[in-house]
Amino acid sequence: MLFDVQHPAKGDRNIVELGMVDKVECDGNKVTVTLAFPKHRDPLAEYLIGSTKAAIIRHSPGTEVEVRTVIREEAKKKPAGLNLGTEELSQVRHIIGVASGKGGVGKSTVAVNLAVALARLGYKVGLADADVYGPSVPKMTGTETETPQAFLDGEKEVIMPLEKYGVKWMSIGYFAKPEQALIWRGPMACNALKQMILQVRWGELDFLLIDMPPGTGDIHISLVHDIPLTGAVIVTTPQAVALADVEKGVNMFRNESIRKPIFGLVENMAWFTPAELPENRYYIFGKNGGAEMAARYGIPLLGQIPIVQSIRECGDEGEPAALSDRPDGLAFVQLAGKLADAVSSSEDSAPKE
Ligand SMILES: Nc1ncnc2c1ncn2[C@@H]1O[C@H](COP(=O)(O)OP(=O)(O)O)[C@@H](O)[C@H]1O
Ligand SMILES: [Mg+2]
Repeated sequence: MLFDVQHPAKGDRNIVELGMVDKVECDGNKVTVTLAFPKHRDPLAEYLIGSTKAAIIRHSPGTEVEVRTVIREEAKKKPAGLNLGTEELSQVRHIIGVASGKGGVGKSTVAVNLAVALARLGYKVGLADADVYGPSVPKMTGTETETPQAFLDGEKEVIMPLEKYGVKWMSIGYFAKPEQALIWRGPMACNALKQMILQVRWGELDFLLIDMPPGTGDIHISLVHDIPLTGAVIVTTPQAVALADVEKGVNMFRNESIRKPIFGLVENMAWFTPAELPENRYYIFGKNGGAEMAARYGIPLLGQIPIVQSIRECGDEGEPAALSDRPDGLAFVQLAGKLADAVSSSEDSAPKE
């Protein structure tokens, strides 16, 4: 919805693209958006404040909205507002968002298998299922009948992640029935999701993957502001129609107020391989779509995952394909290796503070 707020004096680019959204905070039924303006107060500031309020209320009627403003220089100095605090993430080395422009491209399948594959490579791994509208981690890992333990540590409520296949898992799906999650909107969804990340006792991890909700909405902006993401990977399918979605995803992380590295693109469903003809590849959605997209946005193509029946079956049975030594399992292990390399080389090239 914040993507709908256009700045009439800036060629109708929206406030997200322009890097004007400094913070989105959710508290109960209230959303507070902080808009950042450059040094001189924008003559259209009042107009933008009003449009921002209207856009949120249109999307989530009944929400209480407050819009604050800061001057960009102040915005830079101030740390992002963290309601819950990030102490539970203090021993987590890298937090990687797994994102996609739209649903159904296999983002959760990739996230779950990537987590298992990283664990196979010897890394300590956790996965937070932040897809509050369609949590799929419990089913894909066969943990849907379990309930994570919650306890009080002093004043603070902490949730223990579940452990299976060498990975620590957390999902809103362990607490909410599927039909319940679907009716959550705006601020509630936003809060639930932060709890699934910030209140979890992850312990020491090399990688915490976050299965982000599909799309590029306010929830994402709030998430990338409040969670110290190291960077992201973007999952797509090879069709040309997916291009616009990838572009949105890329812009979200490259946005001036976010600026997180994109470690690469994962092309899922890159080709079809029938079980009985494992050497054959049928490019049913077109060939090289992923490579072309990656080149177009100047990000590496981290890996290609074929469509194979066993990937879906394994997901349905709660036994991720990445556990196997079949070609599809190894494709995930290879992808995991590439991601780990990309993250460590970006770390090497990052300026030392
Ligand atoms: N490479 C693949 N091969 C076969 N089935 C796949 C593959 N990737 C995803 N699927 C199936 O497609 C459906 C959607 O995948 P999912 O990971 O839930 O997508 P998203 O999280 O993007 O909505 C699931 O049934 C999943 O098992
Ligand atoms: Mg999903």
